[in-house]
Amino acid sequence: MDPELVLVIDFGAQYAQLIARRVREANVYSEIVSHTVSVADLVARKPAAIVLSGGPQSVYAEGAPQVDPALFDAGIPVFGICYGFQAMARALGGDVAKTGLSEFGRTVITVDEPGHLLADIPVCFNAWMSHGDSVQAAPSGFTALAATEGAPVAAFENVERKLAGVQWHPEVLHSEYGQKVLSTFLHHIAGIGSAWKTAAIAEEAIARVREQVGDKRVLCGLSGGVDSAVAAAIVQRAIGDQLTCVFVDHGLLRKGEAEAVERDFVAATGAKLVVADAKDQFLGHLAGVTDPETKRKIIGREFIRVFEEQARKLDSEAGIEFLVQGTLYPDVVESGGGEGAATIKSHHNVGGLPDDLAFTLIEPLRTLFKDEVRQVGIELGLPDAMIWRHPFPGPGLGIRIIGEVTRERLEILRDADAIAREELTKAGLDREIWQFPVVLLGNVRSVGVQGDGRTYGHPVVLRPVTSEDAMTADWGRLPYDVLERISTRITNEVREINRVVVDITSKPPGTIEWE
Ligand code: XMP
Repeated sequence: MDPELVLVIDFGAQYAQLIARRVREANVYSEIVSHTVSVADLVARKPAAIVLSGGPQSVYAEGAPQVDPALFDAGIPVFGICYGFQAMARALGGDVAKTGLSEFGRTVITVDEPGHLLADIPVCFNAWMSHGDSVQAAPSGFTALAATEGAPVAAFENVERKLAGVQWHPEVLHSEYGQKVLSTFLHHIAGIGSAWKTAAIAEEAIARVREQVGDKRVLCGLSGGVDSAVAAAIVQRAIGDQLTCVFVDHGLLRKGEAEAVERDFVAATGAKLVVADAKDQFLGHLAGVTDPETKRKIIGREFIRVFEEQARKLDSEAGIEFLVQGTLYPDVVESGGGEGAATIKSHHNVGGLPDDLAFTLIEPLRTLFKDEVRQVGIELGLPDAMIWRHPFPGPGLGIRIIGEVTRERLEILRDADAIAREELTKAGLDREIWQFPVVLLGNVRSVGVQGDGRTYGHPVVLRPVTSEDAMTADWGRLPYDVLERISTRITNEVREINRVVVDITSKPPGTIEWE
């Protein structure tokens, strides 16, 4: 049976994805649709509720997306957020105006009448706002529930019609009781159940793959990261030995990562795995190369060569029809997809396969957010190291060694990186830090004094960053004692390194990686 569906209508704000995630955290399945979709098409999808997201514009701005009033007569519960709240007020005959007082950031909400929506929460709390216009009077038949200094009506509801809305952003972390308010709307006002659970997601995905594949054969490239591992584990559960996984060991992974694939992943899933040991091939082609883009091109090119060779071999032996891709829901939304044709994430691993290797794609994670993928991974018993791995670039340590990539430098960097990661984990900071590159300045030597003598070793750079999407980032404020332990251990345990420095540049202007 299809799960009860909530449609989040995107008015162009960056918050639609976050809203959809929060809806799923309330155990309700959600999808994002554009505001250009007609009411008839929305109704045809039989949603259990609709959420109107925030948007960047004023409802009075020229060309601002409006809400078709017919939506509110369709008998579907609707929740309006920020711009969606105003658009809803306007469509229903309420009064929206620019009062002069804009509110951005933390704002105090005062509850006048809790109604259903704001029941069981304090009468005064902080929430995140971002608005110029405000609702002056609720539409007729609606109860005004709360106010702020700049918004006379900051929340309203009409419980009989199952319509409600708030001026603030309940989906953001800084809004107190945000999840509670959203949840109250979904479960108590719209009357939706809580059927969307990760165990169900895994089972459903497994059943779908089984149906799609039948008795055909499937290929999956493993990268060491969580997406490809979970996608492969789902397919393995569905069709067992009809799946062959290929892991290209390019020798540029961090300590323990190749083992996590070769040993732990296989032990956890029982998947059939072919390891292509291409370390020498990659190092051979990288010899003498120092330019970052040239390194990337070589690594990408060799990767495709090796993967393709394996794919051809397996195809000629057994005939492969399907290729697994770890495409996630945000990739689908960002590439304008959602409906219609499959949109393929241009992942360098498999993005460049030649046309005569035309496999049909299987994308078992296509409807999932990253945190759901992790949950499914846990359900399927995958190794922790894979599930919680920070994002890691395809070219791996190849772009974290400034200068030529050599076997010896890779060993040095691997040791230093392992220490940094271990101490970060011990300090309990893995979830706060988005990524923690350790960069070896291969062409720089600095003088040090260790033991009785002077040394002439390499510096490494620690680059802890916080981020939400890697588009922008800030440097991570690691506690001094954690930095001290990392520095002391690296200089004691990795002979060739005699200096540890910390990168305190935000992005922009600095990128996360050094190359
Ligand atoms: P930058 O360094 O541009 O990185 O701030 C943003 C995010 O992308 C990752 N990254 C890469 N990923 N191939 C990849 O698959 C690459 O060539 C590459 N370069 C950077 C980086 O680790 C960060 O998460």
